[in-house]
Amino acid sequence: MSTTAAGLVRLHDHGDVVVVQLDRPAKLNALSTALEQELLDVVGSAVVRDSRAVVFTGSLRAFSAGADTFELPEMTPERIAAYYRGSGSLYEVVARLAQPTVAAVSGYCLGAGFELALACDLRIADTTAQFGLPEVGLGILPSSGGLTRLVRAVGPAVARDIVLMGDRFPAAEAHRLGLIREVVDAGQALPVALERAAHLAGQPALAVAWTKAAIQAAAESSTATSLLIEQLAYAALNRGAGAEGDPR
Ligand code: COA
Repeated sequence: MSTTAAGLVRLHDHGDVVVVQLDRPAKLNALSTALEQELLDVVGSAVVRDSRAVVFTGSLRAFSAGADTFELPEMTPERIAAYYRGSGSLYEVVARLAQPTVAAVSGYCLGAGFELALACDLRIADTTAQFGLPEVGLGILPSSGGLTRLVRAVGPAVARDIVLMGDRFPAAEAHRLGLIREVVDAGQALPVALERAAHLAGQPALAVAWTKAAIQAAAESSTATSLLIEQLAYAALNRGAGAEGDPR
């Protein structure tokens, strides 16, 4: 296990899988600029780059209670623009990692915390998990890619309900909506996420990376473009897969 310089993120090495743990428990892992920057540094580091799968997690009480509300009043349009060029790019960087990513969620998963979980490929939540996007009630909106990802995941009608009402909802509801893969017993989100990540880490890495990119493209482009990307990726990947050698 290692800790980042400012001590807001812990890294746990599980062989091919690395666990990135938000470690600001006294503030329910609220995503301050400093925490986002540390996460961004970690995600760009060799230890994550060389891993085959990444698990993001928090504490048992909170995956994350969202953006640091104490920083919100200080924001101006200029600072917000700079934010998206800096630590605010975290969510897109996570979404575009070549490796598979799994969020292991216990407790509060609110606002930007939920957006970080949505930027991962899979979400495993335990029965204590509470999801929600309370931003509209604070006079803002989810703007770390979560609004866009939510609409694409559940459609505009359900997204309107979640974002405009701002209600918190439990893991079972998130599962019913297809937002999480599994609901597990309290305290089991991380062990189960590690199992799923280990499976993903054993899949051919290049096939995983191109498939992730193709899924992203399919959500964003025309049918013709998406089909072309599928076919080009297949042509790039199929160099005798299943024949001799490791296609990874
Ligand atoms: N930003 C900054 N600090 C936060 C935070 C956030 N989003 N969420 C919680 N904290 C801090 C609290 O200020 C408190 O700090 P303190 O002990 O120094 O006073 C600590 O975390 C514990 O929070 P507390 O409110 O006492 O816990 P709780 O169990 O009573 O309530 C929540 C938990 C998540 C319901 C409540 O903290 C909350 O509503 N947080 C804000 C959620 C939010 O609006 N997120 C989206 C921001 S855009």
